[in-house]
Amino acid sequence: KKYNVILSGGIGSRLWPLSRKQHPKQFLKLFSGKALFELTAERNQKLVDEIMVVGNTDHIEWSKQLLQDICLPKTFITETAARNTAAAIAFAALAVDPDDILIITPSDHLIQNQDDYEQAIKQAVELGKKDFLVTFGVVPSRPETGYGYIEYEGKDVLSFREKPNTETAQEFLERGTFLWNSGMFCFKAGIFLEELKRYQPEILEKCMETWQISENYCLDTKSSLQIPSISIDYAVMERSKKIKVVPAYFRWNDLGSFESLYDYLRSAGHPVDDNGNMVIGTDIFTAFVGLKDSILVHTPDAILILQKERSQDVKKIYNQLEKYK
Ligand code: GDD
Ligand code: MG
Repeated sequence: KKYNVILSGGIGSRLWPLSRKQHPKQFLKLFSGKALFELTAERNQKLVDEIMVVGNTDHIEWSKQLLQDICLPKTFITETAARNTAAAIAFAALAVDPDDILIITPSDHLIQNQDDYEQAIKQAVELGKKDFLVTFGVVPSRPETGYGYIEYEGKDVLSFREKPNTETAQEFLERGTFLWNSGMFCFKAGIFLEELKRYQPEILEKCMETWQISENYCLDTKSSLQIPSISIDYAVMERSKKIKVVPAYFRWNDLGSFESLYDYLRSAGHPVDDNGNMVIGTDIFTAFVGLKDSILVHTPDAILILQKERSQDVKKIYNQLEKYK
């Protein structure tokens, strides 16, 4: 059986103030009247037998509503404490049979070219059936520090490096033997759990404890808080020797930061002034003096002004906020 596991527990803090704790970006109907979360399920519905959502309990009703029109069985695993993607994926894997194939997708990506996407997924499923952990590699276009980098030779992965610093990212870009990790994965549930056990036994142990005492797919809070909070990238992908990569020829945009949102909006015809400055969220006439490659983000109760290349730092502001989260 094949599952699309939609990871939907993030807040999208790097897109604050557009994205808020109670209104994470994946649920906002920003794209042709649809939410990225909804588009994710639509893109995968033909490829799988069931949809499994792993996300925060506060947003589960919202998720259910958005998936109303998807005619597939659905399972919702609800977190009351977010413990990052290694744990979220472990719960999905614990909920199914070891030989079931999981196609893990973030809920906040914009993907175009459905045909190419389906081809890539089919290739990945074939490799997944052969007990590999499959990643999807995107040709990098800038020294982005918010992504994972896959050093590759054909479909083989020589190394995986999550979120390098700017100098290292620049070096990877120049060497030309690295792809960006798209953040989607495909593998057998049982193989993922084996690799998790090998490299992060504590995560697996605590996830199993939590799973055992949880009812109706609603994860116990106290027990969840004991799980180390690490992403799948650091926990497994940087270490496993069973990784393969499938090239992603489809158009992929991780709308994870203002830099990638800027690139997307610009390519979609959103105005930018002569110095590369952009306004998001208002039609109020705005002038930039002496600023270059800056973004102004306007919401009814909060405004953000940033230099485009500092997009990753928005998370720091978010983490310091008391109000307006
Ligand atoms: N259920 C659940 N629980 N989902 C989570 C949690 C959690 O605790 N934490 C994050 N997620 C979800 C987010 O909502 C998002 O859909 C996905 O998991 C990935 O999390 P991000 O926080 O967006 O990860 P990232 O962007 O820093 O890095 C990942 O994606 C990049 C590409 O977009 C990595 O896989 C990188 O290697 C990759 O390049
Ligand atoms: Mg992301």
